[in-house]
Amino acid sequence: MLFPDYRPRRLRRNEAMRSLIRETSISAANLIYPLFVMPGKGVREEVPSMPGVFRMSVDQLGAEVKDCLGLGVNHVILFGLPEKKDPMGSGAHAKNGIIQRAIKEIKNRVPEMMVSTDVCLCEYTDHGHCGIILDGMVDNDSTLEVLAETALSHAKAGADMVAPSDMMDGRVGEIRAALDENNFTDIPIMSYAVKYASAFYGPFRDAAECAPQEGDRRGYQMDPANSREAMREATLDVEEGADILMVKPAVAYLDIISRLRDEFDLPVAAYHVSGEYAMVKAAAERGWIDGDRVMAETLLSIRRAGADIILTYFAKDMARLLG
Ligand code: PBG
Repeated sequence: MLFPDYRPRRLRRNEAMRSLIRETSISAANLIYPLFVMPGKGVREEVPSMPGVFRMSVDQLGAEVKDCLGLGVNHVILFGLPEKKDPMGSGAHAKNGIIQRAIKEIKNRVPEMMVSTDVCLCEYTDHGHCGIILDGMVDNDSTLEVLAETALSHAKAGADMVAPSDMMDGRVGEIRAALDENNFTDIPIMSYAVKYASAFYGPFRDAAECAPQEGDRRGYQMDPANSREAMREATLDVEEGADILMVKPAVAYLDIISRLRDEFDLPVAAYHVSGEYAMVKAAAERGWIDGDRVMAETLLSIRRAGADIILTYFAKDMARLLG
């Protein structure tokens, strides 16, 4: 026999052979597209640190989601910039708040579009933290009530799924109870179960104007050094009734996605966050990398690590590339 006797290259000879044995794929159906909603009329402005991503007023949403559907992206997640911020984040659960209006607009105009909502207070508090501040600390238990009320107000406005991203302890259970008591037993919770205190959120905080005025989020978001703790966070959320477990950010945490995939049976989501998006865009604009290929390779790596679902600002670009 001729050395080497086993030749993996045999199965790489042409595209038909390669696609025959391809282990991982990505489809528009796996993607969730984040949208930033802001006050005003006729507003559609690009986020400077996120080229191709626009903040828009409620009246622009119909056209935007039709565009998404046309590309095969049938799920969006909403983030809101309220008219006014206050210490309690009361805009988060206002009956006629920015997100509540946005949900209704999308559901009226394009009912088949799936709408998830981010449940957190940081966009609505004047101090920019994800919860209520008591004695200079973000107070866990008093925040839970406001989060539950926020999730409930989203469900009442017509949201298909709620996604708590605040990292308070016990919030999944509290939200589940509030939804169930109000007959929203069919609304799933996609928990940001494993959310790290990450520098990759920078551009998002510009877009949503939600950077903390003082301090940082390390008192509630996870330490990037920890992996076992991620399993503990996920276990708690499963016990409290989470339907989907999310890891965030994605690329610097592929090992965490992979561990979650191995240790849990629930669907796993990964959030390819603003900073991860911005880096690819910036290098591509300079001609240093092929933007489309790096995008596709990156999203594929997240799927290969074990994510069923990817939340990404690339959702439309990727869907376009898939054709
Ligand atoms: C709200 C929230 C954040 C992101 C999603 N939900 C910001 C943060 O925690 O600071 C970040 C998303 C992104 O960077 O794309 N808490």
